[in-house]
Amino acid sequence: MRRLLVIGIGAGDPGHLTLQAAEALGTVDVFFLIDKPNAAPLAALRDELIDRHGGPDHRVVHVAEVPRDRDPDDYGAAVADWHARRAQRLGAALHDELADDQVGAILVWGDPSLYDSTLRLLDAVDVAFDLEVLPGITSVQALAARHRRPLHGVGEPVVLTTGRRVADEGLGGPNTVVLLDGQQAFETVDPATTDIWWGAYLGTPDEVLVAGPLAEVADEIAATRAAAREANGWIMDVYLLRRRDAG
Ligand SMILES: C[S@@+](CC[C@H](N)C(=O)[O-])C[C@H]1O[C@@H](n2cnc3c(N)ncnc32)[C@H](O)[C@@H]1O
Repeated sequence: MRRLLVIGIGAGDPGHLTLQAAEALGTVDVFFLIDKPNAAPLAALRDELIDRHGGPDHRVVHVAEVPRDRDPDDYGAAVADWHARRAQRLGAALHDELADDQVGAILVWGDPSLYDSTLRLLDAVDVAFDLEVLPGITSVQALAARHRRPLHGVGEPVVLTTGRRVADEGLGGPNTVVLLDGQQAFETVDPATTDIWWGAYLGTPDEVLVAGPLAEVADEIAATRAAAREANGWIMDVYLLRRRDAG
């Protein structure tokens, strides 16, 4: 039976790779690299880790990302169709490129359990394999570590959500971690009652951190974000919002 490893590689710092993941990289026969547009930072980290930890005889197979209609008439049907075509393309690559007794791997930014479609995609793939998931350091853990603070007060809940949801629905509780924020959702939250711990490009040489009462630092974060996006052509940021009355 084919074996497939889905390996979390951490949030940007090569040192995030766990010992378990590093060892596993050395056992892989075929790395399947899903080439997403605008994913140069992921590709660079991925290549570095494969060079450093991959075995001498490994192969690399690139699986091109399926183009997506960003403005369809029927959004649900378009997404379902896109997922089906992605699963078919990945399934074909696994079938054609991985022999029955070989080990394949897909490397995932951060951890595959958090805002990543790889495991859902593999559920829909029509090829038999034994699946093993190796966890990675998420951007959320990297954020908390770099700000040297926990995500919540004693016994409190913490919600992980997207920028779009915060903009549409408000905060999810006393402590809300926001990922995938294309719209600066922190600007939609009451600045008088909220503190923020923000981080961009965590774990990379371009890392930026800002923290403080939202009323005092929101403009600085917006300006830093705009300048960084301009300089690098892309931005990846994550932040914790905490209601000051939380505890
Ligand atoms: C598609 S999600 C992937 C999350 C990833 N699976 C994880 O475990 O962190 C991408 C989002 O993760 C966050 N992110 C990932 N890496 C980051 C980094 N190095 N610095 C800041 N934010 C990061 C950003 O919110 C980005 O929009």
